[in-house]
Amino acid sequence: MEIPSLKEVYKDYFPIGAAVSHLNIYTYEDLLKKHFNSLTPENQMKWEVIHPKPYVYDFGPADEIVDFAMKNGMKVRGHTLVWHNQTPGWVYAGTKDEILARLKEHIYEVVGHYKGKVYAWDVVNEALSDNPNEFLRKAPWYDICGEEVIEKAFIWANEADPNAKLFYNDYNLEDPIKREKAYQLVKRLKEKGIPIHGVGIQGHWTLAWPTPKMLEDSIKRFSELGVEVQITEFDISIYYDRNENNNFKVPPDDRIEKQAQLYKQAFEILRKYRGVVTGVTFWGVADDYTWLYFWPVRGREDYPLLFDKNHNPKKAFWEIVKF
Ligand code: XIL
Repeated sequence: MEIPSLKEVYKDYFPIGAAVSHLNIYTYEDLLKKHFNSLTPENQMKWEVIHPKPYVYDFGPADEIVDFAMKNGMKVRGHTLVWHNQTPGWVYAGTKDEILARLKEHIYEVVGHYKGKVYAWDVVNEALSDNPNEFLRKAPWYDICGEEVIEKAFIWANEADPNAKLFYNDYNLEDPIKREKAYQLVKRLKEKGIPIHGVGIQGHWTLAWPTPKMLEDSIKRFSELGVEVQITEFDISIYYDRNENNNFKVPPDDRIEKQAQLYKQAFEILRKYRGVVTGVTFWGVADDYTWLYFWPVRGREDYPLLFDKNHNPKKAFWEIVKF
């Protein structure tokens, strides 16, 4: 059977994206060109890579991905400007004012470099705490600068590229408590006139959590704020729990079927909110490379994507292209 092109099937809905690295774009060249019209550098725009030392920027790795995208008519999502991970320790040295000045320089340099090429930025990533009694995460950015760092980051990103769409991005936003925190954060930013255009729901799922209904509730809730919603890092692990004590060398059929049903239900919802949902990006391309191979358990096999290790479409692929 002829394999349809995912981006063609979804052309009236939203771009279909994939996270890639400058080391693997050519491994996935055929799949990328056929099915995807948006790319996210998996690590290459993170602070430790793009700005490893004070005033030293290394745009090379990210440029390779951006050039590949431009050559092939793809959009690029920028990931990410403020995050508690993959950020060198020197970034947090000094007073609050010094740290904010450093962040301003970083955002002007990085967003400025990709002005007109990166259409959407994950300006702030994972700032919300998972502890129900805490709002912002315990991390130097927020411990030292408070919510101001979030406000300033959006303002500076907007100054550096007024045409870029600016997102707040986080995981587990399908969870009702974390969903409400994100809603409150974005609401406050909007009320203050801060330029924020969307919420990125990462979408790292297991077979047990979250339910598609929870995703729908989050999309509805965020849409009340008049912002766009994107799924920015979609993958569905074949484990029922992150810490499940199994390591499947071959994915069991029933799990691949369950995964396909979850993808099917998720995409039904994503299509239903046409206009609100403006992008869906997978955190990888095919099951031969996924970050879940080393997170949270190093060396555990996983099969979270739409294409198998041989780059053939899986059950989940066929479920989301027929509607
Ligand atoms: C992950 C990358 O996939 C890994 O290669 C890296 O070692 C760690 O970061 N949420 C995010 C992404 O926002 O940046 C993370 O990416 C996955 C979880």
